[in-house]
Amino acid sequence: MQTEVVTGDITALSVDAIVNAANESLLGGGGVDGAIHRAAGPELLAECRALGGCPTGQARITQGYRLPARHVIHTVGPVWQGGAAGEPELLAACYRNSLALATEHGLASIAFPAISTGVYGYPLEQATEIAVEVVLTARERPAHVIFCCFDGPAAAVYERVLDAQQPFPR
Ligand code: AR6
Repeated sequence: MQTEVVTGDITALSVDAIVNAANESLLGGGGVDGAIHRAAGPELLAECRALGGCPTGQARITQGYRLPARHVIHTVGPVWQGGAAGEPELLAACYRNSLALATEHGLASIAFPAISTGVYGYPLEQATEIAVEVVLTARERPAHVIFCCFDGPAAAVYERVLDAQQPFPR
């Protein structure tokens, strides 16, 4: 088992699956979703269209097309509304369902962006606590899990939370 934090563009990672912070339509958008669709090419949108959307908290898998990643796992994070509208449970479900889907498909490595912490406004620190807790306590998960942060300050938050929740070697 290996859990690590990397800084940079998730679309550059050669892993079995990268996770997309999508919206319920699965038809693309801005942020990491836009970057993934641009890098994967139009075939990704065509496969997504056939899926017919995805409810918040759930996950769907597609091929990775022109990405170095073999697959994309699309999950829909909650929009932050103050924290009392089920956001923590829905965000945890995104991570849990993505890990379960990866395991079902026999994937050995997966990279997550910081789901919901961009356009959807989830406070980074609180989102990170949930992401790390679900990954570290998952019964079934790929052997290698990467938290991919777009910038250094976000990566520092992830490193701190990982060290706090698992003070021994990862
Ligand atoms: N690689 C890694 N992380 C990235 C990248 C990248 N290329 N680009 C952005 N991030 P967001 P959300 C980080 O807004 O909050 C879309 O329009 C970014 O810094 O992409 O879940 C969808 O279609 C932030 O920390 O996703 C939805 O409508 C994190 O990814 C909506 O945005 C998530 O930011 C979803 O919003």
